[in-house]
Amino acid sequence: MHIGSFELPNTLFVAPMAGVTDRPFRSLCKALGAGYAVSEMVTSRKDLWNTLKTSRRANHEGEAGPIAVQIAGTDAAMMAEAAAYNVDRGAQIIDINMGCPAKKVCNKWAGSALMQDEALALEIVEAVVAACTPRSVPVTLKMRTGWCQAEKNAVTLARAAESAGVQMVTVHGRTREQGYKGAAEYETIAAVKAALRIPVVANGDIDSPEKALAVLRATGADALMIGRAAQGRPWIFREISHFLATGEQLVPPLVVEVRRLLLEHLEDHYALYGEYTGVRSARKHIGWYVRALPGGDAFRARMNLLDDSRAQVQAVADFLDELGTRMDRMPAAVAEAPEDRDEEPMELVA
Ligand SMILES: Cc1cc2nc3c(=O)[nH]c(=O)nc-3n(C[C@H](O)[C@H](O)[C@H](O)COP(=O)(O)O)c2cc1C
Repeated sequence: MHIGSFELPNTLFVAPMAGVTDRPFRSLCKALGAGYAVSEMVTSRKDLWNTLKTSRRANHEGEAGPIAVQIAGTDAAMMAEAAAYNVDRGAQIIDINMGCPAKKVCNKWAGSALMQDEALALEIVEAVVAACTPRSVPVTLKMRTGWCQAEKNAVTLARAAESAGVQMVTVHGRTREQGYKGAAEYETIAAVKAALRIPVVANGDIDSPEKALAVLRATGADALMIGRAAQGRPWIFREISHFLATGEQLVPPLVVEVRRLLLEHLEDHYALYGEYTGVRSARKHIGWYVRALPGGDAFRARMNLLDDSRAQVQAVADFLDELGTRMDRMPAAVAEAPEDRDEEPMELVA
């Protein structure tokens, strides 16, 4: 599969997740079988571009390409400027966020709220495409199925975006109104796929190899995007890939491998965020890795009290060493009920 001139190694994508899919996590997912990753969204508000948060989000050092940056905002000219700014800082693909229930920017709702205003949505797409095309940078779009149940306009908007020059569309199978409630539906994604010539990516509630196959069959999509199920389980990409290729389940990873992966992830994480922020923001990742493990809840509670990176690393190493004395491999993943998953923070992050 291609996005513009970029050929992707496979068709399993990591979903952009603000506060989660930073460069260390994206690199880890790519190393474990994800073919493509989009960065966390960057606001189109210029006054926030110099913040530490945005500069970390614009950090792609050592990341395998293509580098895709997602932008969010409500003003066409500002979005075009944001696209150009990110291209100048290494973005090779620009993704427009019309998929996430983000907070107000400049007194207007951004993200999936744009789906309610098709004219503005299209104006933004056209402006971003106009800014990116002369630089040979493909523009992609991430959206939901619509604004609400009564107004599922994904097909209309996706068609218009394709005509305006967008080169790939991702659809999360929920409406804006649904937030993360209920189950994702795939009929609308199938309808978008049937209506477009450009690649269509299916997203929403894919949490196992079997579910991945079912979503591929239900939608005919060109690729799959996985978000929450990859939290603490970045090897899900190779598991899905193996299952799609062979029809067989890959055995769960060895505990010693997970120990190595997690410790490397932590070092990379501290290097990006520094000691103080790094230790604190690493807690959620560690919590996701251990959530399904015996003793995981108690460990998480203890670990959350540590505020020094060396102590955090030692605690993780000790926990997994001890686990390794009881089992060679990680327990097979148990699919979580969607309502037990972490919700997206309702903030537009800088
Ligand atoms: C913590 C979190 C942060 C997210 N941030 C973004 C974001 O920055 N941009 C975006 O388009 N979608 C964002 N999403 C939505 C995901 O990309 C994805 O569409 C959604 O989680 C459904 O996929 P899943 O069921 O595989 O998680 C976020 C989701 C979560 C859980």
